[in-house]
Amino acid sequence: MYFNELDNTQPSFPLNGRPNGFPSAGQGLNGNSDIAALRAIAQKYCPEEVKSVVSPIVPSEIDEFNFSEIEKEFTSLLHGGAPSSNLLGNIYFDDDSPSSVSNSHSDDANANGIAAENGFGIGIPETELVKNLKYEEVDTANTDEIRKQFPILNQKVNGHDLIWFDNGATTQKPLRVIDGLSEFYKHDYSNIHRGAHTLAARSTDQYEAAREKVARFINAPSQENIVFVRGTTEGINLVAQTFGRKYVEAGDNVIVSTLDHHANIVPWQQICRERNAELRAIPIDKNGDLILSELERLITPRTKFISVGHVNNTFGTINDVETIIKIAHSHNIPVLIDGAQSIAHTRVDVQRLDCDFFVFSGHKIYGPSGIGVVYGRKEMLELLPPWQGGGNMIKDVTIERTEFNDPPARFEAGTPNIADAIGLGYALDFVSSVGIENIERHEHDLTEYARQQISRISGITIMGDPKKRVSVISLDVHGIPAPVVGKMLDQEGIAVRAGHHCAQPALRALGYEMSVRPTFAVYNTREEIDRLVSALEKIVSSNVRS
Ligand SMILES: Cc1ncc(COP(=O)(O)O)c(C=O)c1O
Repeated sequence: MYFNELDNTQPSFPLNGRPNGFPSAGQGLNGNSDIAALRAIAQKYCPEEVKSVVSPIVPSEIDEFNFSEIEKEFTSLLHGGAPSSNLLGNIYFDDDSPSSVSNSHSDDANANGIAAENGFGIGIPETELVKNLKYEEVDTANTDEIRKQFPILNQKVNGHDLIWFDNGATTQKPLRVIDGLSEFYKHDYSNIHRGAHTLAARSTDQYEAAREKVARFINAPSQENIVFVRGTTEGINLVAQTFGRKYVEAGDNVIVSTLDHHANIVPWQQICRERNAELRAIPIDKNGDLILSELERLITPRTKFISVGHVNNTFGTINDVETIIKIAHSHNIPVLIDGAQSIAHTRVDVQRLDCDFFVFSGHKIYGPSGIGVVYGRKEMLELLPPWQGGGNMIKDVTIERTEFNDPPARFEAGTPNIADAIGLGYALDFVSSVGIENIERHEHDLTEYARQQISRISGITIMGDPKKRVSVISLDVHGIPAPVVGKMLDQEGIAVRAGHHCAQPALRALGYEMSVRPTFAVYNTREEIDRLVSALEKIVSSNVRS
């Protein structure tokens, strides 16, 4: 599965038969599919290098390899980036592999310029990072397999099989997260960073490993760019309060967008009010797309910050944040991206985006609630003063003064949410095991199918029609208030959100106060959408009759 994520066009990639998906030291990956997988990766990323580099069979010299480079290369590949150096030069061929390795295996390798002797596998050493990369295999084509990992879905609600279409509000948790948290509390739990005992060390290691997983998942340069917070809301408040108090002055302005969640409006409104600054908003058109041509008009020499959502939570609009960031940076304005609704649905690469901050919540990406992330560009984090004071965020304290810690510790005052940070790490493992591109494709299919089916029902309007969108649909069921529709759907076992979704400016810009909002995730199916469509038809026809 690990390899599968690297190239979705290679259906033979899944490494079948290995429960954890990743080899341990000396336990090579065996079988033609492994060689094919490796070759496919090599051909994609370094076609010329494959012949010259993947030749040595060097089990006895394995210590000579730079394992941290190997880790970096695999990390880079995991995130779809091109390797920076000879990836395959760092993969060794291990002649300790089982004798059952066939000749065709060797022939296969030889045929592709990979020198091989009798019997070999391909392995990488089990470093700390690799231990944390134990992906379970998930057959992405088989939603049933994925659903088995979400026990909560297997229940009746009001006499019907539960359909969870409230994923925009929060996602359900896979066994990986549930069991991982339980194991952590059963065996390893301790406060972190302070104790000199074994459990403190274990907890600290796991907490910091989770930070590393987050960094890898969003392709941050380092785990030092990752601050753990309670969620997106707290993350935006952290940036608004620290940056705002230091840099926003009377007469300045800050820009958000009309599509934004209240979490990206209210904290900036508060700091602007406090500093006598102005809050401006990029407007939207009737489709629910940002009118980006207005951005240049809104920017003035007094614009201090731009904070915008990556994906809107009501119409599902994917904003062109790359363009926003480019425009902002051409004026030397830092940008925060609210990734609450994008993180679980599309690949996020903070370095490619070139954003200054990226914020998201764990609970929207199959992780626990109460944990979230602020990614900050190193120079930006270093510029910011602490937000809250207390333990952990200090280097030295006297009664007169405090020397603050470096980021990220500077922003993590007090005992953090240790277990849920670790749980978030497990959630990211789950997403990586399925492959974010596979999730995106599956959800895109569901969304377009749902839009098509629902648009056939007269008496229901789908709000907005954004150019690029994720799996969020907002509905107006004519003549029936959204909360009533929500309750009627609940009677059919279908959970959707009904209300203003903390996005009142966005809804009002399209002339609505509320919507009924089904949102889809990796475990949803077309059959569930069919049930939603039947339930909506029933609601509409009962309304017509009454
Ligand atoms: C776009 C967006 N931003 C921010 C938030 C706030 O997230 P949280 O409540 O996890 O802090 C949400 C939650 O729905 C959201 O959809």
